[in-house]
Amino acid sequence: MTENTEIKKGLAGVVADYTAISKVNAETNSLLYRGYPVQELATSVKFEEVALLLWDGELPTAERKAEHVAYGRAHRTLTPALKAVIDALPTDCHPMDVVRTAVSLLGAMDPMSEDNSPETELKKAWELFAVLPSVVCYDQRRRHGLEPIAPRDDLDYSENFLYMAFGEVPPAPVRDAFNASMVLYAEHSFNASTFTARAITSTLSDLHSAVTGAIGALKGPLHGGANEAVMHTFDEIGFDENETEEQAKARAKAWMEAALAEKKKIMGFGHRVYKNGDSRVPTMQDYFFKMVEHYGRHDMVGLYRGLAEAMDEAKSIKPNLDYPAGPTYHLMGFDTPTFTPIFVCARVAGWTAHILEQRANNSLIRPLSAYNGEAERSVIQ
Ligand code: COA
Repeated sequence: MTENTEIKKGLAGVVADYTAISKVNAETNSLLYRGYPVQELATSVKFEEVALLLWDGELPTAERKAEHVAYGRAHRTLTPALKAVIDALPTDCHPMDVVRTAVSLLGAMDPMSEDNSPETELKKAWELFAVLPSVVCYDQRRRHGLEPIAPRDDLDYSENFLYMAFGEVPPAPVRDAFNASMVLYAEHSFNASTFTARAITSTLSDLHSAVTGAIGALKGPLHGGANEAVMHTFDEIGFDENETEEQAKARAKAWMEAALAEKKKIMGFGHRVYKNGDSRVPTMQDYFFKMVEHYGRHDMVGLYRGLAEAMDEAKSIKPNLDYPAGPTYHLMGFDTPTFTPIFVCARVAGWTAHILEQRANNSLIRPLSAYNGEAERSVIQ
């Protein structure tokens, strides 16, 4: 290590390993899951099948899908032990802390916890995939003093998720928008939380530990927490359902100009990899506009467009997926702190696919550092 050692701050631009799970192409603004464009998957494939694609490498046959669906639906119910632990947590702790604690507990209670064989790990992945929506919905209702709603095994993933959250089977447009958001959030190569999961796996630790660590990484506002932060921005600007789109847009633009003048970082904008727009935004934005129509909230379009236009004009920085996803979840009725836990339910598919891939061709992840502290000295006088 010399004075001239080049430091790749934030590991920006560092290629750490191969992956066959997804390909992010910043030049063409495209994202492929196992070779399939994500916008095609989001609009025409169920999230359950996309998860199998990420794990298996291929879209499922009817038989494989039936096996996964039956296994998943049998693992949606929260155990009394898990409910008791969630109930013991303060209702004002962040829901990401609840999800992180739940996954850690599930690991501790799993008799196969230390079995890292591919077959057992895939089962653990399927079980987490199945139970996490129940954790998130149980907690959202608990925080609002509402009775929990038990999962139903006759509903698909998205229908059941929304049913457990709000007690009604959603109409098809809402179900489809939610499904698309889950598909778009499911995987994104070596992002911070996935890399965390791979680093933990590389020490030969267990799957639940890797997912627990990944949840911690996703919580931060520079990563998954941004979808909540977008909603805080909307809240700060304020809603007025009676104003026109143009009026809302003008208020949003004024807010953005003031925020940028104060050199604020605006959540939901910018991306480490995409510099000309996030490949997932056009698809999610279409669904956001559909939800605006569905719920009759055109004032939100004004805020949405006003902020994006002002940011583009001032800094040419484009929205990322969190920008349309946050307000979409708001329209569906989720409270803001639940947005990032929903992201967990989606990204667990990608994390666990990466855990399996890391395990199959493992090498301990252990970078070097360049020391810039005190020169050698002695405690002995
Ligand atoms: N708001 C305002 N300015 C932003 C910005 C944002 N959201 N994102 C980037 N910039 C500016 C930075 O201030 C910096 O300007 P400068 O060179 O004048 O100092 C420049 O763009 C580069 O930003 P930097 O943070 O160094 O780039 P990065 O590649 O490390 O950042 C993010 C990527 C995602 C961390 C960053 O865009 C960000 O913090 N976005 C907001 C959080 C967010 O939405 N995260 C979800 C990501 S999917």
